[in-house]
Amino acid sequence: MVTKCLFPVAGYGTRFLPATKAIPKEMLPVVDKPLVQYGVEEAVEAGISDIVFVTGRGKSAIENHFDRNYELEDQIQGTSKEEYLNGIRAVMEACSFSYTRQVEMKGLGHAILKGKSQVGNEPFGVILADDLCYNQDLAVLAQMVELHKKHQCSIVAIEEVPLDQTEKYGVIAGEQIEEGLYRITDMVEKPKPEDAPTNLAIIGRYLLTPDIFEIIENTPPGKNNEIQITDALLTQAKGNGVLAYKFSGKRFDCGSMDGFVDATNFYYNEVYKSQG
Ligand code: UTP
Repeated sequence: MVTKCLFPVAGYGTRFLPATKAIPKEMLPVVDKPLVQYGVEEAVEAGISDIVFVTGRGKSAIENHFDRNYELEDQIQGTSKEEYLNGIRAVMEACSFSYTRQVEMKGLGHAILKGKSQVGNEPFGVILADDLCYNQDLAVLAQMVELHKKHQCSIVAIEEVPLDQTEKYGVIAGEQIEEGLYRITDMVEKPKPEDAPTNLAIIGRYLLTPDIFEIIENTPPGKNNEIQITDALLTQAKGNGVLAYKFSGKRFDCGSMDGFVDATNFYYNEVYKSQG
């Protein structure tokens, strides 16, 4: 059973300044919902009930979003506007939320390690909320939970990207063991196109086994002097094995301007309008 999911949300979101000066990037709305709520809804669909945010300074809006706002709720109680809160109330009922601070921004591996005591000795999900994933039938993390039941190892979600974009991602090499499923043999963090082993890039969805914590603890800083989750995953791949899964669905890189605008257009036209 996978019941816990980490949300590393400590980053500064500098690509969205000045919008992210006082508001966390994860609170930027795509149509009418903040990015982080889409992520939590995806986790709930995958059967998660414990959400752990790895936060930083200036992120209190996230805590407030997953809490009551008595004054507002009292104002709109009994009116038609109350239905706007149905979605957020449903996730608040489905989950418990906890928060841990990443005091210094030392990379995604370091952020994940901060969740060690809350996660304990269980497999767990990691969602980077600025990668917004859409699948009408089965959410990406739910697809990964299904795979984990069968393979019992860490799994990362991957996507084919244009070669000139490999420098934005961790890139894998692997042997294909099933359609769209690879056993990882190599991983490189943000390679130049000429150094990339493939164009299979890791996106912001991970399902990790808890031995990853000890591996991260023993992983020295890598690219950009940060503790990279890809370095830790490569160590794990050489031991118990790690799978890379070409997920089914769409992904929007909402950490970038283009991806954010594409997501907004897609959700407005294909999701929001069709729900009426
Ligand atoms: P990004 O590389 O997109 O960084 O991190 P960022 O700081 O949020 O955004 P920009 O580049 O300045 O615009 C990917 C994810 O990992 C989290 C971020 O919050 C984001 O969700 N992260 C990254 C941490 O929580 N801690 C870290 O040390 C690094």
